[in-house]
Amino acid sequence: MEFAMVHRHPVSILVVATTFLVFQRTSSAGLDLGLEAAWKDWKATHGKEYLESEESFRRTIWEKNLQMIQQHNLEASLGNHTYRLGMNHFGDLTNEEYNQRTNCLSPGPAEPLGGNVTLFRTSAALVTPKEVDWRKKGYVTQVKDQGNCGSCWAFSATGALEGLHFKVTKHLVSLSEQNLIDCSGKFRNRGCGGGNASWAFLYVQHNKGINSEKTYPYLSKNSAPCRYDPQKPVAKCTSVVEIPKGDERALEQAVYGAGPVSIALDSRSKEFQFYKSGIFFSPWSDKVLTHAMLAVGYVNSQESGKGRGYWILKNSCV
Ligand SMILES: *[C@@H]1O[C@H](CO)[C@@H](O)[C@H](O)[C@H]1NC(C)=O
Ligand SMILES: *[C@@H]1O[C@H](CO)[C@@H](O)[C@H](O)[C@H]1NC(C)=O
Ligand SMILES: *[C@@H]1O[C@H](CO)[C@@H](O)[C@H](O)[C@H]1NC(C)=O
Repeated sequence: MEFAMVHRHPVSILVVATTFLVFQRTSSAGLDLGLEAAWKDWKATHGKEYLESEESFRRTIWEKNLQMIQQHNLEASLGNHTYRLGMNHFGDLTNEEYNQRTNCLSPGPAEPLGGNVTLFRTSAALVTPKEVDWRKKGYVTQVKDQGNCGSCWAFSATGALEGLHFKVTKHLVSLSEQNLIDCSGKFRNRGCGGGNASWAFLYVQHNKGINSEKTYPYLSKNSAPCRYDPQKPVAKCTSVVEIPKGDERALEQAVYGAGPVSIALDSRSKEFQFYKSGIFFSPWSDKVLTHAMLAVGYVNSQESGKGRGYWILKNSCV
């Protein structure tokens, strides 16, 4: 998944045509022999290798996931879902394993950390446009891949800073997640073990800068000690503005007024694990936040009470 579109209001329907295959089941090994070639292709595509003792276990999980994906896409073709799923490199993981691997947020502290942090104030008078897409205005760098490191918080933070830096300078510069991973421990971030975009902003604020991706490239692992180069700050951060949890109207105003905004959501569903295209919707929890992404735009068109709006989110878990 690169850019995801996520439902704002539950009702919109998008009919997607799909084809599905009927497989012959063989009961002997518990595995579907008709999927042999597809399994080999999938392993080759994603560079998967297993010990002999593990292979049939992984294959069984993969087959189950494939079946779930096909069932979902069949239902989507009947108009029951607004988005489609697709097999990807998470195909050999159970949803529990996927969640363990991708949970990249640290639980928030009770007290604020200090620094220039204020709460976003919604304006009753502000009329926001129906659509905002900062990708089209040059605010958004290419999709990056966090790899096997719980660093979504760092990607979410660089995305927001890249947007603001572009807004001010008209130069789009990719910023360093590794800089945040290695250097923001004092602000409670735990590198590949999880963090929080707000704490990353506080680090940049106190550090008086962040390096570019080029100066401090991504390694997808903890690589302390910090190698921040104070001769090469690209962007700074003077203040952090927090949006009240769950307030989508405030988020809309913030995205419109400021540019791309760091957000967090509940990414635990198996549908999220295999999201491919369309407008994602999931009965998720707003109490459990597991993943950080970047809101780069939205569509908000309300037609006679029937919501068709969605958020455009940049992901780093691709
Ligand atoms: C699809 O939606 C219809 C109408 O809401 C419902 O009756 C039907 O059971 C659903 N089918 C599936 C396969 O979910
Ligand atoms: C990140 O930290 C801030 C400030 O400590 C907190 O308000 C916010 O809820 C945290 N975000 C998440 C996703 O936990
Ligand atoms: C705090 O943030 C405000 C804008 O939100 C800014 O005007 C002010 O200069 C910042 N203060 C410091 C000490 O950076």
